[in-house]
Amino acid sequence: KYLQDDKLTQECEELLPSLPKEKGWVSSHFYQYKGFWHPARQLQGVIACQKHFEAQNSDILLVTTPKSGTTWLKAIVFALVKRMHYHRGMENYPLFMNNPHDLVPFLDLKIYVENQTPDLSSFPCPRLFATHLPFNSLPKSVHNAPCKIVYLCRNPKDTFVSLWHFTNKLRLIGNMETNSLEDVLDRFCKGVSIYGPFWDHVLGYWKESLENPNKVLFLKYEDLKENPTFYLKKIGEFLDFPFSSEEEKSGGILEEILTICSFDNLKNLEVNKSGKLSSGEENKAFFRRGEVGDWKNFLTAEMVDRINSLTEEKFGASGLEL
Ligand code: A3P
Repeated sequence: KYLQDDKLTQECEELLPSLPKEKGWVSSHFYQYKGFWHPARQLQGVIACQKHFEAQNSDILLVTTPKSGTTWLKAIVFALVKRMHYHRGMENYPLFMNNPHDLVPFLDLKIYVENQTPDLSSFPCPRLFATHLPFNSLPKSVHNAPCKIVYLCRNPKDTFVSLWHFTNKLRLIGNMETNSLEDVLDRFCKGVSIYGPFWDHVLGYWKESLENPNKVLFLKYEDLKENPTFYLKKIGEFLDFPFSSEEEKSGGILEEILTICSFDNLKNLEVNKSGKLSSGEENKAFFRRGEVGDWKNFLTAEMVDRINSLTEEKFGASGLEL
């Protein structure tokens, strides 16, 4: 629904003709705004969010590049931060009844698309929100308030393959033909993908995490997969919700959170097998393989070379490896 170009505000309608435009992956077009590419309706949410969102000091913002494990991160941070509020043994534990996207909503992709000036006062403190906004496009109040940002990204080849599958699913629902891998790879490498260029998005947060480690925690999907307990503790400490020594000693709660949030568990919950988000996407679309290195099953050697050289060139001396 957010990829459709209809029902735009007048402000957005007036802005679009002045912006660079390219063919979209699902929506008819992408528009380049402040260096990054968006479908029109999403751009409307981006602009409204930038203008109106007032961060509170205790807010927690989960920021990701699309298809880097956002759903997983939302589940983990929700379970971690709300662990005192909900007993995981209860039948209607929120993560058993809701898709993580409904528990930690996107500011730019959902809240500010639906309503340009929403009332966010009913969100319990600490408020948990998500966004795909690039660092420089975050609302001013996020930069100014001491709120925290957890950033997650993923190897560009796996991100690309996941995005290709996801957008093709959306195209099929809209009765459109699927995109060929070659065609969208070319566009991905030219930076023309949702919230792309991918590399600029990642670098923005990487640099900030080095300069301001108390503000931005920079995480990689691959690291989370390899050592989830270590990173769960790290996220807890970063967000000032550390596990107590008793919690750590017994180990039960850490394991419990990771089991609840695991790919197999989330994927097989009834809500994620048959439910839909309020924005219309099927919950099951967010769970595909959940593995590291699935790109090997799809990309040719030439495609791999292209992404690898671009990644080397873009990340250069930044010290970042993905
Ligand atoms: P694949 O398409 O490679 O399987 P996002 O949540 O940002 O949209 O990212 C979706 C990707 O994360 C998909 O990758 C999806 O399968 C994977 N994913 C979803 N839930 C996960 C979980 N609990 N653990 C690990 N990966 C998960």
